[in-house]
Amino acid sequence: MSDFDPRSVIAKKRDGHVLDNGEIATFATGLADTTVTDAQGAAFAMAVFLRGLRESERVALTRAMQDSGRTLAWPEGGPVIDKHSTGGVGDCISLVLAPALAALGARVPMISGRGLGHTGGTLDKLEAIPGVTTDLSAGRIGAIVGETGCVIAAAGPDIAPADRRLYALREESATIESPDLITASILSKKLAEGLDALVLDVKTGSGAFMQRKEDALALARMLKHTAEGAGCPTAALVTDMNEPLASAAGNALEVARVLDLLTMADIDNRLWDLSLALGGALLVRAGMAADREAGAARLRRVIEEGRAAERFAAMIAAQGGPKDILERYREILPRAAVIRAVPPAAPGFVTAIDTRRLGEIVVMLGGGRRRQEDRIDPAVGLSEIAGIGQHVGPETPLAVIHAASEESFMAAAEALQGAYTIGSRPLPEPPLILAEL
Ligand code: URA
Repeated sequence: MSDFDPRSVIAKKRDGHVLDNGEIATFATGLADTTVTDAQGAAFAMAVFLRGLRESERVALTRAMQDSGRTLAWPEGGPVIDKHSTGGVGDCISLVLAPALAALGARVPMISGRGLGHTGGTLDKLEAIPGVTTDLSAGRIGAIVGETGCVIAAAGPDIAPADRRLYALREESATIESPDLITASILSKKLAEGLDALVLDVKTGSGAFMQRKEDALALARMLKHTAEGAGCPTAALVTDMNEPLASAAGNALEVARVLDLLTMADIDNRLWDLSLALGGALLVRAGMAADREAGAARLRRVIEEGRAAERFAAMIAAQGGPKDILERYREILPRAAVIRAVPPAAPGFVTAIDTRRLGEIVVMLGGGRRRQEDRIDPAVGLSEIAGIGQHVGPETPLAVIHAASEESFMAAAEALQGAYTIGSRPLPEPPLILAEL
């Protein structure tokens, strides 16, 4: 029986002292094996929320939560790399990047999350393809990466269990917003993938969790320094989320835009540009490109040659989906019952978008979750979303709504008109990349 008393760790942090690595590791082990009680876990979260962590403590907490469960190990081969986004609307970059990086010889074991609130989740998007499963054992994740170079899977109960427990306690104790705990939480799960390099997309703007650029920059710095302190070369970009990244928001609708891009049928510029920028920065950290532009050029080539699309199709087939997704995605993806465009109340130019509201409209249509256990409708959402600077009028709608019923179409149409600000003069599109670390 250990003589560890979690109360001594909580009291030390409560009183503003610095915890040592051993104390943090023992506390994280106690979270995973439940020798730390719920009350103690929540009290620890509040002490960290109020007092903050030094970088050495944040690195130790990240490592300890990562090591509280299984970490993936890889045989000799290409670099093992991944990306993480803090979440936005129409952000389907992971579905573009995973196969494109795999086509260049990297290995991408992407452990992703589900959507909650106004932001979509990569797992929900992938599961919009009939038959696809993301609940995979560690053995199966390894086998699929070995076959196709990439996989997109849910974090099973054995990945960072200390974080799983602490996250639930943070939700109950008003401590979700702690940047220290957000950082350790995100990185513990990503680093459990056994990564050689990581890129982080930290979003700011009307559709992001962080509306202010300074807050996004501070989180980007914290994430990058902590990941590097834990031994993983990391790039971080702060990027604009004042409008959706793709011209669609909603699970199947975003998958269709990804396939339009991978097959070069029709490209959303912001989705394309940011995919190449993030991927380029990641290739530099992985030692696969001299600079971001060279990395982006390599990615552009594999997409244009159709090699990224082939990897996407192989990954979908390996995860239980149809074998002919590239040829038949328009027929295969589910379609909503009501599909209709919504014009603006008066014509003009889009000067601002309440992007968070667009994400909430997807949730309202049934395409997202209010609570973790909600079921979602993969077919619903928005397509042909007008961006900032675009002219809108009777012939050029704000967006096309995909709804399960007339009733939900009507509610979404009203909310959509309220999400747009229309002016008489065009504005330039906002810059996409605000900072690179
Ligand atoms: N995502 C996570 O995994 N954890 C957080 O705390 C926030 C976002």
